[in-house]
Amino acid sequence: MESEHRQNGNTKPFLTDVKTLRDRARQHIAEGSVTPNYECDVHKTIEILQAVLATELVCVLRYTMHAVAAAGISSEGVKAEFATHAKEEQGHAMEVAERINQLGGRPDFNPQGLATRSASEYGNAETLVDMIKENLIAERIAVEHYRELIRYFGNKDPSTRHMMERILAVEEEHANDMHDLLVAHEGRPMLPR
Ligand SMILES: [Fe+2]
Ligand SMILES: [Fe+2]
Repeated sequence: MESEHRQNGNTKPFLTDVKTLRDRARQHIAEGSVTPNYECDVHKTIEILQAVLATELVCVLRYTMHAVAAAGISSEGVKAEFATHAKEEQGHAMEVAERINQLGGRPDFNPQGLATRSASEYGNAETLVDMIKENLIAERIAVEHYRELIRYFGNKDPSTRHMMERILAVEEEHANDMHDLLVAHEGRPMLPR
């Protein structure tokens, strides 16, 4: 069948070219989705996303704790809201972890040092209103931080930027929800609108 791999008397077998292509592809497999035209420093991107992952995980833990620990009159609706947010933060953590993996990194879920890797805090609120305030502060930190990251990724890494934009939109909703809860429970906003 070798004659089928020869063209116009060219003695160079067609298969050689396929082999070259495959070898080249194999060389790049280790780089996963990172092609030579990736314009960011991939190590820096992974490092940034590890911090985002930690931020999201701390938010999962804080909202989950609040969803369980919130007590007092009219806390049921608030508990449900906290639980919904915990679930959404978990979704964000998974998205970010998948992106780290795509870029060739290993998502850092290590509980050791989690709080120091995170931009937001776990907190220590005891009353319902303090819990709402802590969550509002954490959301505002995330919103500000993610806005900066979106500017950083710009057109250099559109996939990561799109992911961060989707997450940012949800964090803005979260901040708004916490703001509304605070007004409902305290009658006034913590921060002027
Ligand atoms: Fe989130
Ligand atoms: Fe959030």
